[in-house]
Amino acid sequence: MIKRIALIGLSGSGKSSIAPLVADLLGWRVVDTDRLVEERFGLPIAEIFARYGESVFRAAEREALLQASLAEHVVIATGGGIVLDDRNWIPLRTETALVHLRARIETLVDRLHRQSERELQPTVRPLLAGDTAAKLQELWQRRRALYEQADVVIDTDDEAPEEIAQRIVEAV
Ligand code: S3P
Repeated sequence: MIKRIALIGLSGSGKSSIAPLVADLLGWRVVDTDRLVEERFGLPIAEIFARYGESVFRAAEREALLQASLAEHVVIATGGGIVLDDRNWIPLRTETALVHLRARIETLVDRLHRQSERELQPTVRPLLAGDTAAKLQELWQRRRALYEQADVVIDTDDEAPEEIAQRIVEAV
């Protein structure tokens, strides 16, 4: 029996917005590793990268994942780079259904663009600064094989968040 569901995928794939919908369907809780890291530092992620560097962020992200993995009945929204550290694969795999939310690069760019238009203080993603599409393409090339190790892949381009959440619940 699985105790957790972890959502992985690139920025804009919908991890943070789909996780609460899945949790609602199951009566589970949500943990968002990016938010845990921000709370711990009291700073937005871009500021953590700028002040302390990516490696400090990654260490905090690893701790956030470990913390999330102590709980049962949680849906974990991860940051896009969670798959990079080999050590993260133990919690990602232990009694956890690992779900890859996949989307075309244009879809991701479009969602990120809309998100920043919606937000009062737009989320800055340091690894996507500049040409977002090119950066996402680069990250996809480097990470694809890692994301593809998920138990379930859900294509998210053409469906509403509620439908995607429903498909996840049916698939795990
Ligand atoms: C990152 C993705 C971000 C955040 C950080 C690094 C990445 O999370 O963790 O900016 O390496 O892909 P989202 O996937 O929620 O954008």
